[in-house]
Amino acid sequence: MKATAIAPSNVAFIKYWGKKDVTLRLPENGSLSMNLSGLTSTTTVEFHADYWEDFIEINGVREENKGSRVVLHLDRVRESAGIKEKAKVVSVNNFPSDTGLSSSASGFAALTVAAAAAAGSTFTEKDLSILARQGSGSACRSIPDGFVEWLDGVTSETSYGVSLHPSNWWDIADVVAVVNEGKKSVSTTKGMEFVTTSPFFPVRLARIKEKLMKVKELLAQKRFVPFGELIEAEALEMHAVMLTSTPSLMYWTPGTLRVMKSVKKWRDEGMPVYFTMNTGQDIHILCESKTVDELKSKLADADGVRDIIVNKPARGAHLIQDHLF
Ligand code: PMV
Repeated sequence: MKATAIAPSNVAFIKYWGKKDVTLRLPENGSLSMNLSGLTSTTTVEFHADYWEDFIEINGVREENKGSRVVLHLDRVRESAGIKEKAKVVSVNNFPSDTGLSSSASGFAALTVAAAAAAGSTFTEKDLSILARQGSGSACRSIPDGFVEWLDGVTSETSYGVSLHPSNWWDIADVVAVVNEGKKSVSTTKGMEFVTTSPFFPVRLARIKEKLMKVKELLAQKRFVPFGELIEAEALEMHAVMLTSTPSLMYWTPGTLRVMKSVKKWRDEGMPVYFTMNTGQDIHILCESKTVDELKSKLADADGVRDIIVNKPARGAHLIQDHLF
């Protein structure tokens, strides 16, 4: 059977950085994110008895099967669904990969939903989120709708994403500034291995539950300014852990820093905007919808900003009818 799914990337307001179980991808702490309407992966999967090996094509490029995380993920779906057929997988992203925009979140969420449907088995949203998490941790947050909490859990069955609010809950936007189309040199999976070498990691973990509660509260109350202050500080805290790990991880480029400084300046001038970044140079700027046009025109004039992608909160991964092959 053949099935196609589209999934959004997501931006974390409370970040996932550190695993308590590497194989199962169980996070050290719970996290919270918003699905992004403008950053999506679309994936078609077909299982067929005639295929003698898995065939994977991502953004027009054939992927090697040896050591492939996609093949491992197909194996998980095959095992859960009780099937043996090999698969053809074709996937496209509508945004740059490996620059900090979480293409693995949208990619593994779309792959999970398409593969589960193509396998002909019924999975609940929770099952899909648990499966997606094992492909890429943050992918579990791209399965449910809107604003999503990833419950950290202590077992595979208790670690998954749940929707806190639907996508129309809050009229905010995530404006992405693409500052550089280069790729990061240390993958997220690799970078996360060093987390416990930072002296600040235990400090972060000791305070993270309280911070997550606070962000949930501000999201529920839709209080943009304290919300923005908290999520910007959270991003800087995660990067402080990265910077003080051994080896030190620095995902920012001069372009990232220039935008960070500009955001602070624009805020001082009265525009309520706040940044957050992940493992890459591109930068997410959160604002209320009424501020988007002003922010876009400032970014258009900013030095080194190559592209601007405006995202609204979006629904989670879902099936569509248009197949890619
Ligand atoms: O799911 P991964 O392995 O790509 O990790 C995502 C890590 C961050 O993007 C840095 C933070 C997060 O919570 O999305």
